[in-house]
Amino acid sequence: MTRVAVTGAAGMLGHKVCESAPAWASVAALTRDDGDLSVREQAQDALQATNAEIIIHCAAYTDVDGCTRDPDRAWASNAVATENVADAAQALQARLLYVSTDYVFEGTKAEPYLEDDEPAPLTVYGESKLAGERAVAAILPDHLIVRTQWLYGPGGKNFVASILKAARSRKRLQVVHDERGCPTYAPDLAEAIWRLLHTEATGIVHVTNRGACTRLELALAALEEAGLSDIEVEGIPSAAWDSPTRRPTNAVLGDTRLAALGLEPLRPWREALVEYVRTMGKTQ
Ligand SMILES: NC(=O)c1ccc[n+]([C@@H]2O[C@H](COP(=O)([O-])OP(=O)(O)OC[C@H]3O[C@@H](n4cnc5c(N)ncnc54)[C@H](OP(=O)(O)O)[C@@H]3O)[C@@H](O)[C@H]2O)c1
Repeated sequence: MTRVAVTGAAGMLGHKVCESAPAWASVAALTRDDGDLSVREQAQDALQATNAEIIIHCAAYTDVDGCTRDPDRAWASNAVATENVADAAQALQARLLYVSTDYVFEGTKAEPYLEDDEPAPLTVYGESKLAGERAVAAILPDHLIVRTQWLYGPGGKNFVASILKAARSRKRLQVVHDERGCPTYAPDLAEAIWRLLHTEATGIVHVTNRGACTRLELALAALEEAGLSDIEVEGIPSAAWDSPTRRPTNAVLGDTRLAALGLEPLRPWREALVEYVRTMGKTQ
């Protein structure tokens, strides 16, 4: 058995990573109760206690508007905490997989972003996650960084759940029509993370469900799958959305490296969405 520590284990992705652990992994699920990772001693103590051979670092401050309003918290939880986790990995001689984001990109490229494209974050969230990437790369030459996008799934606040919740109490919704990305189902990403760890891969790998769409297209697909197509949906530009944050409009991630590593691409986003909406129906 390989000892694996998972940070952010109470979060949407971290929980799924723990739940889908393969037979070869013995998982230590770390939550905030085990320590604040932005405090160096707490991060070191929590990770040392696991004696991990692999660390999957899912913990982050993921509220994008929250990061804009509170940059100190964003920096502490995304940059400093990641540096602390990387230092702890070095002390343990553990392999580190850090989960990062499309928000490291500006979102102006016409084609999908590849792993070696130059990052240029627009947001505090993106800047703080990029600082995390750089800390990991500086401390651990054999690091693995998985960038993903538009995560949704059980047990977390996410766009799809918010749309379906809003549709049950309102007859009319406004959704942004000029942001494009690859919606990614957390359980699919969790499985891909384990498959990646089974390879010798290092560096940056983009992992998303296949295909891209706009926020509006994703909302309409979710409503259709949930049998709520009678809701009126108005597409609006992101500039009209009430938010303190200017988001990347076209930060679609290309996943060519995954195939180069010999790994199957994830299924198309719409197939995963169908499964999620069905799962939600069963739990309501
Ligand atoms: N959600 C997305 O759309 C998306 C897209 C691309 C990439 N990602 C990346 O994917 C990863 C997982 O995202 P997610 O949506 O599953 O996150 P999440 O549900 O927000 O969970 C993150 C977890 O990290 C914990 N955490 C935050 N700061 C911490 C600290 N200083 N010390 C200890 N624990 C801390 C949080 O605990 P508290 O709740 O107590 O703060 C929470 O349980 C993150 O690295 C994120 O940047 C997410």
